Amino acid sequence: EPEVIRDKAAMRAWSRRQRAEGKTVVLVPTMGFLHEGHLSLVSAAAAVPGPVAVVVSIYVNPSQFAPTEDLATYPSDLAGDLRKLASTGAVHAVFNPPDLYHRGSAVSGRSAEASSCLEAGGDGHETWIRVERLEKGLCGASRPVFFRGVATVVAKLFNVVEPDVAMFGKKDYQQWRLICRMVRDLDFAIEIVGSEIMREADGLAMSSRNVHLSPEEREKALSISRSLVNARTAVLNNSNSASKHIKDQIVQTLTEAGGRVDYVEIVEQESLVPVETIDRPVVICVATWIGKVRLIDNIEIYIQ
Ligand code: PAJ
Repeated sequence: EPEVIRDKAAMRAWSRRQRAEGKTVVLVPTMGFLHEGHLSLVSAAAAVPGPVAVVVSIYVNPSQFAPTEDLATYPSDLAGDLRKLASTGAVHAVFNPPDLYHRGSAVSGRSAEASSCLEAGGDGHETWIRVERLEKGLCGASRPVFFRGVATVVAKLFNVVEPDVAMFGKKDYQQWRLICRMVRDLDFAIEIVGSEIMREADGLAMSSRNVHLSPEEREKALSISRSLVNARTAVLNNSNSASKHIKDQIVQTLTEAGGRVDYVEIVEQESLVPVETIDRPVVICVATWIGKVRLIDNIEIYIQ
């Protein structure tokens, strides 16, 4: 049974104790409603060489949701999550704080920036981390405050948990690359590990939001992974494919299936800079609405 810790000071003390005992502290940050994708990060955490202390954080970070987004309906099931984590036998502590932010006392509605779900209070939270270029493209274009919220909460988790290693899924490819960049730029002494995407048997990338899909929408959502696999085949079969051509085909597949495309982009794997000709390692990133659910997926393509 993992120990459940709710208090920041207790979390930091636990972590320091583990390190004093010679363990490598490995953090798996999550927002809960755990599935096999999250559990694959736990396995990867347990597989870090040497004696490890694995901490899973479960915290739905309000600041990465815009006021119009799905914070209120974001699914949660703490009891189920704790059961799943216990059954892995690989988790030593669960960090589940009731809140991570300092809240302002003068609550006068949302900030003029309409940016976060945190109240604009005189003595509330006002410090943000921005990874200025990486936060703007892909998901950042339609979710302008999302990565500011992610970078800031992850930095806070790093400061509270003080991990040696932190695990991120490549499912959220831009998030993973942006955290790598933040850690490099701000000299966090933390190794960031990117873990492969876990998929359902039929290819759908696992996501906490999949529970909101009706059976018909679930079927439509298969067009996402299908279009990406077909795109990879096309790219590998033709040297120097034009990005535009490949993107058009993906958009067509998604649209025909009934999706409303947010973006399809073909970018360099580390910098996330768009490429016109696919002549180097790239990742194809997709975001599409299926009904009221926004889903993301991606596929890496290695080209020599
Ligand atoms: P959440 O969506 O709960 O995801 C937690 C971690 O699980 C992320 O690193 C995500 O990439 C990974 N993950 C989700 N689905 C996956 C899948 N199918 N295969 C592999 N990994 C998968 O991402 C967040 O929470 C938040 O933004 C967070 C980093 C916790 C900051 O609030």
